[in-house]
Amino acid sequence: MATVPTVGSTANGVTRPTLTPAQFSFFEKLIYELSGMRFEVNKSYFLASKIDLRVQALGLANIEAYTAYLNTPNGRTEYGYLIDEISINETFFYRHEPQLQAFRDSILVPHAQARRTQGQKTLRMWSAASSTGDELYTLALMLRDAGLWGKDLTWDMVGTDICHDALEKARAGIYRRYNVRNIPPALLQNYFAHDPNGPTGETWQIKPEVRSSCRFQEGNLMDGARCTALGKFDVIFCRNVLIYFDEPSKEKAVINLANNLYDDGYVLLGHSENIYSQRHILRPVKELGAAIAYQKAPPGTPKL
Ligand SMILES: C[S@@+](CC[C@H](N)C(=O)[O-])C[C@H]1O[C@@H](n2cnc3c(N)ncnc32)[C@H](O)[C@@H]1O
Repeated sequence: MATVPTVGSTANGVTRPTLTPAQFSFFEKLIYELSGMRFEVNKSYFLASKIDLRVQALGLANIEAYTAYLNTPNGRTEYGYLIDEISINETFFYRHEPQLQAFRDSILVPHAQARRTQGQKTLRMWSAASSTGDELYTLALMLRDAGLWGKDLTWDMVGTDICHDALEKARAGIYRRYNVRNIPPALLQNYFAHDPNGPTGETWQIKPEVRSSCRFQEGNLMDGARCTALGKFDVIFCRNVLIYFDEPSKEKAVINLANNLYDDGYVLLGHSENIYSQRHILRPVKELGAAIAYQKAPPGTPKL
């Protein structure tokens, strides 16, 4: 079994912040309770370096003082900052394009057509771990590109995340080259304001017409009541977050996704994620470019 590194270990002559076994177990448990994210002991250095940033931000002496602070009544206000610091917000526009193209052709277009036929004009899409907004804005661009925006269809586009920093960035909608590199050039040209020499370097800001059509708010996939309050959706993207959860957290998240889905709606996960043990809640219905689309399993489906 791997051991937790000892306090003050050095690498290349630089002292790295480290966690004692007791500190690791305290933070691992707290983060799990707050977010459902499970950190294994091999992530101890990662956690220590992130926690150390909070120690410095608060002007505390060390991780021990930070742990004591978290245990005071005022310490609860620090929980959000801790989660912000340890969240892994990696994302970019048009992430895993084969899945998105297959989604557009075999789900989005026919589903929108079915809703039109039913006389329903408002459809709802949820990016359930939206990070800095790249995923939800990608969907908004795809809808425009596919001619499914405006005219007789309105879309309610909602992004939620547990990380406040990421939500702020999503609302601002300002991105670097890395994030926009996969956007088809015509869409980048039409829907972004390019600033080659911005105060933070070269940036692209999504134009207000797209930005104002997407709203972002705090949301924790572990919080059933807060998820329910968002209402039902036609399409839910929940990509690249279940990988951070253990089986019980995954099951909670999958139950919440299913509760927020119309009976004929779809859930899309990341292509490397599987919910094999939760197929009694969401059942696989279509393969989309090495990823799977899910729909609600019929009530009473037995757990396998
Ligand atoms: C790797 S990003 C994925 C972003 C985007 N969905 C994508 O695939 O590009 C994972 C996001 O999940 C968020 N997250 C982690 N735990 C969460 C939870 N319990 N509820 C909601 N969001 C969570 C993190 O803050 C982070 O922004």
